[in-house]
Amino acid sequence: MRIVFATKNRGKVREAGEKLKEFGVEIIPLDEIAEVEAPEETGETFCENAYQKATYYARKLKLPVLAEDAGLEVETLKGRPGVYSSRFAGENATDEENNRKLIEELKKRGVDSSPARYVSFFFLAFPEGMGLWSEGEVRGKVITEPRGSGGFGYDPLFIPEGYTKTMAELPLEEKNRISHRGKAVEKLVWLIEKVKGF
Ligand code: IMP
Repeated sequence: MRIVFATKNRGKVREAGEKLKEFGVEIIPLDEIAEVEAPEETGETFCENAYQKATYYARKLKLPVLAEDAGLEVETLKGRPGVYSSRFAGENATDEENNRKLIEELKKRGVDSSPARYVSFFFLAFPEGMGLWSEGEVRGKVITEPRGSGGFGYDPLFIPEGYTKTMAELPLEEKNRISHRGKAVEKLVWLIEKVKGF
């Protein structure tokens, strides 16, 4: 089975692609299919954003389209950056700028770590109107000293529960086994299998 994945984030393509391959699903990055203007991200929840993105492209392309909205929720920051994770330091901010902003925000509050969780929400939209969705989370903590070069985004600052290494210090297979994205993909594939049986 082949599905279009509506993202420009190479980290997401690598991680979701690797995991989906294990289940016989191949993803085609959107930019390899067509040039379509991106919709505005206006949702206040991960669910809303993933739903908006997937249905927008499925209607435009008349193909099944998978979209993910994900982010980091930090307890000391009352759940921020949340849905604004990719724009924490401003529109088009780089991962480094967002990480710097997170470190600053923690230091401003006089802490050098905080409980946190990553959340991932996938929505698979079919052009006829039906949709499947799944969610995954991984709990842990964020720190103010970046470590490691794997993964992407906030991974150098995030230590999963039960680990001493940051997510950026773990090999891809290990991150995929425990991550919010890995868990959400597993649930989604389970649902796709069920629906195929109808
Ligand atoms: P989205 O493209 O709107 O879903 O934004 C996702 C943002 O959340 C990314 O740009 C990262 O800042 C953050 N994020 C989501 N998943 C991860 C992950 O697995 N590792 C590190 N950062 C992540």
